[in-house]
Amino acid sequence: MLRTHTCGELRRDQVDEVVTISGWVNNYRDFGEHLLFVDLRDRYGKTQVVFNTQANASMGDVARKLRKEDVVQVTGRVKYRGDDLVNPKLETGAIEIVATDLTVFSKSKTPPFEPETTELPNEELRLSHRFVDLRRPSLQRNIIMRHKLTQSVRNYFNNLDFLEIETPMLGRSTPEGARDYLVPSRVHPGSFYALPQSPQIYKQILMVSGFDRYYQIARCFRDEDLRADRQPEFTQIDVEMAFVDRDDVLSTIGGLIAHVLKDVAGKEVSLPLPRYTYADVMERYGSDKPDLRFDMQLIDVGEIVKDSEFGVFSKTIEGGGRVRGINAKGAAHYSRKMIDGLTAFVGEYGARGLAFFKVKEGKLESSIAKFFDETKQKAIMEALSAEDGDLLLFVADKPAVTSAALAALRGRLGKELELYDPSEFQCAWVVDFPLVTYNEDAGRWDAEHHPFCSIHPDDTDKLETEPGSVRASSYDLIVNGYEAASGSIRIHDSEVQQTVFDMLNITPEEAESRFGFLLQSLRYGAPPHGGIALGLDRWVMLMAGDDNIRDVIAFPKTQRASDLLSGAPSPVDQHQLDDLNLHVQSQEQSDS
Ligand code: AMO
Ligand code: AMP
Repeated sequence: MLRTHTCGELRRDQVDEVVTISGWVNNYRDFGEHLLFVDLRDRYGKTQVVFNTQANASMGDVARKLRKEDVVQVTGRVKYRGDDLVNPKLETGAIEIVATDLTVFSKSKTPPFEPETTELPNEELRLSHRFVDLRRPSLQRNIIMRHKLTQSVRNYFNNLDFLEIETPMLGRSTPEGARDYLVPSRVHPGSFYALPQSPQIYKQILMVSGFDRYYQIARCFRDEDLRADRQPEFTQIDVEMAFVDRDDVLSTIGGLIAHVLKDVAGKEVSLPLPRYTYADVMERYGSDKPDLRFDMQLIDVGEIVKDSEFGVFSKTIEGGGRVRGINAKGAAHYSRKMIDGLTAFVGEYGARGLAFFKVKEGKLESSIAKFFDETKQKAIMEALSAEDGDLLLFVADKPAVTSAALAALRGRLGKELELYDPSEFQCAWVVDFPLVTYNEDAGRWDAEHHPFCSIHPDDTDKLETEPGSVRASSYDLIVNGYEAASGSIRIHDSEVQQTVFDMLNITPEEAESRFGFLLQSLRYGAPPHGGIALGLDRWVMLMAGDDNIRDVIAFPKTQRASDLLSGAPSPVDQHQLDDLNLHVQSQEQSDS
């Protein structure tokens, strides 16, 4: 070993021992003639090393030339720093090493930024120099937390008799609905593998094959628009179980969440997790993944304002729209400019305006208050549980716009008004999603989750008459405003599966060509089964208290799906294209 201890290990107990440590030069302080202090760093911590340049001049000369991020080995005796000099901020702060030997393993070019910088450079520079970026303590903590989380997940499932089974990366296109990443086949010119968007079909086939409890930490690939919580390549904790109903899956996964949060973050979660229906959260919060760390529900005031003199409200109701509002508690101090900012913000979600009232001395104040008589004002205040000092905000629009705009506004105000403790976790189940949603552009029904979700037992008779109101046996796990997991009980009967395909306008030929291998397996004895997939990257992000998914992935991609470190994607040699029988068109050719 090129060290006897790590840079985070030495304490007063080791005083007078001769030790060897290795690490990166974090910083150096040259106190003139005789003394040079260097802090060495590794992932375990930092240790102060002292060079007496007079006592050992040749070593002193080498030490004087050390620069940040050089990698060195130091041998020396551990010394107590002395009562006045102990650094309580450092775990090794009681000691230092008085160096007797120094080996320089490698010199570093001046890094583009220092791992301990408090002013982060732009993310492009960080990603192109990820090897330096990953030395930052906060990223090291995230990557270590990710490791602990995967270990904890594996322990939980292994103890419950689950089997970890790998499924192919080179496979057939799967049904999650994003664009596929395709891999051309050399052996079969003109044919392509699709990288899995999830192991969905394979895990269902594993159930048919009798592996009744499966999990996998699975890599998934989706070519879709990227956001702060989405990567083109991400990881799922993928689970499937046979001979279960919905409650069995939810309680198994509830147990997983409690186990992992306790194990990794020391947090207690009380079980069972609360459960809401999709219809309920959409009505109360306007979103299927509301942040439940604070209340601020969306209140419908349509009945109160439908015959008011404020045309924006009354005409909206007349035209079949809704008027809904939220109470920003204690925000009556918001200035005109701040409210204009909120108005522009809801505009991004399609709202044509944002009506507001400030509550003062039991009355509503605003330029539109005059349109509401005392009785109406009282009724509005009562509906929104308003008190002096509150700010009431309303959107009048098509129902979907009131939901989207107010849900976003609620999220923003919750943060702005500090209505919750950011370190808190609020997990809940949302169940009974619609089976299908109408795709206006394509003029057809699309699966809300994927086409293998089974139908809510109470809704089978509505399949042909009212497809839009049929619920699926599906569920999402929501955490602090994020969708952290999603799953369903599956269809295990090939005839029922065909009925759902019919409804989705997937012809038998198309079904056979896309999912034939699953349908085939369902005809050979399929047990009832269901499962779920948790977004592992999102979980780590939430547990790390971060809001950028790239901070919990060692080598992430940018919003434009590039890897700035390796330069992927990149053009390839002509002979590689020839091997694959591929011809790449120039941009002009493909535009024409
Ligand atoms: P779904 O598509 O909802 O379900 O994905 C499951 C969970 O994976 C996470 N996730 C992502 N995380 C990061 N980047 C992405 N691009 C991304 N896309 C999804 C989310 C999401 O809740 N096969 C089904 C699961 C099942 O039915 O069992 C599936 O993949 O946290
Ligand atoms: P106006 O009548 O356009 O001057 O608007 C008066 C107030 O009503 C302003 O605060 C607008 O932001 C607000 N407003 C306009 N349209 C809407 C709407 N569709 N929903 C809510 N408020 C609106």
